[in-house]
Amino acid sequence: MAAFHIGECIRKTKQRIPLSEFEIRQLVHGITAEPPIPDYQLAAWLMAVCFSGLNDAETAALTMAMRDSGQVMRWELDGPVADKHSTGGVGDKTTLILAPIVAACGVYMPKMSGRGLGHTGGTIDKLESIPGLSTELVPDDFLSLVKKAGFAVAMQTGNLAPADKKLYALRDVTETVDSIPLICASIMSKKLATGADHILLDVKVGSGAFMKNDADAAELARRMLAAANADGRDCTAILTDMDRPLGMCVGNAIEVQEALEVLSGDIASELGGFCITLAAELLRMAGRGSQAECLAMAEKAVASGAAMERFAMMIAGQGGDARITDNSALLKLSSCMRTLKAERNGWISAMHSEEIGRAAVLLGAGRMTKADAIDYGAGIRLCCKNGDAVRQGDVVLKMYAAKESQLDEAEAMLRQAIVIAAEQPPTVPLIHQHYSN
Ligand code: URA
Repeated sequence: MAAFHIGECIRKTKQRIPLSEFEIRQLVHGITAEPPIPDYQLAAWLMAVCFSGLNDAETAALTMAMRDSGQVMRWELDGPVADKHSTGGVGDKTTLILAPIVAACGVYMPKMSGRGLGHTGGTIDKLESIPGLSTELVPDDFLSLVKKAGFAVAMQTGNLAPADKKLYALRDVTETVDSIPLICASIMSKKLATGADHILLDVKVGSGAFMKNDADAAELARRMLAAANADGRDCTAILTDMDRPLGMCVGNAIEVQEALEVLSGDIASELGGFCITLAAELLRMAGRGSQAECLAMAEKAVASGAAMERFAMMIAGQGGDARITDNSALLKLSSCMRTLKAERNGWISAMHSEEIGRAAVLLGAGRMTKADAIDYGAGIRLCCKNGDAVRQGDVVLKMYAAKESQLDEAEAMLRQAIVIAAEQPPTVPLIHQHYSN
């Protein structure tokens, strides 16, 4: 067997000489081996990737090697298994709505999710705002709940793609996060390890996302589809707008409240329509019917209350207070509330999602450091969206926090985030593109 030298890998990548699959497997093995490849050499290789890139074959090999660095799940269920992944955004509570709809239509969704990162929210934090609910489930309990409710949401375990865990922590502190092949391998190694047959990727694009423009987002989607293809998975990617927050609420309990509004029947809203479209796409991928049939099935799951029933079943199964599905006021918002009012007449021409996400963190809805505790009741409710006409004095949004001083800080940031123009802005669709493998 050929010898492996990390220095040789650094040199080759720096000079744009492709690495063999063997070299990539050895490199990934060395991340978690004892003794591991030193961080300074891994960091040098990561920086070489940022400047020189990796080709498709190298990206697929890196993804598979990282997938195999830990547990690779196999579900023994009597129906199709689907998953959805968002590359991270502001106000993205899609999983909370999509999973119960899909489950109510006979498709299983065993979901592994993460916490918020920087200005972007995380499904686990949102769910933990439900009194009593735990996302730390032992594997047997997780599987029984998936069998009963059709879905369950657990915190991603440390044994899922552990090489990514270590590499991601290193990327975070060496300015090597924003490389398309590295992002692709990081996300797809975890997605492929969670074992779904049908995967829907929601690639966010815009100021509040990792990918700031459509060209980069399309390239990331293309790489992720190629990695899924190389592993024989059915995969679709959509590019969605993250120049504005998704929906009207940003935070934790407040986003669960908004998810309940949709599951109670509000599918005419932009968020509701988006979730129905995504659910229909996953149902179509899982072979439940044509696009039109799946759309009708998803709408019926909401209108009949079946999706809400599944949501209640999941909450109760994870130890949470399922009465919130009848009474969303049981999800308490923080006691200090302030409104932000329009300073002039005009049209809302921008609601910069990154600043809105950062303001939510200042209010207490996210973490500034890993050790910070979240105030689940903190957050923002938008009262208008891009393109709406406003008059001076109209309430543009409401902020919730535990302390007045947090409202002061967030208010200053939110004033920068909301732009009121004299002209009506053009309408930007929420879904920019749709790709399948
Ligand atoms: N999310 C991930 O899991 N990894 C990345 O590299 C970026 C976003």
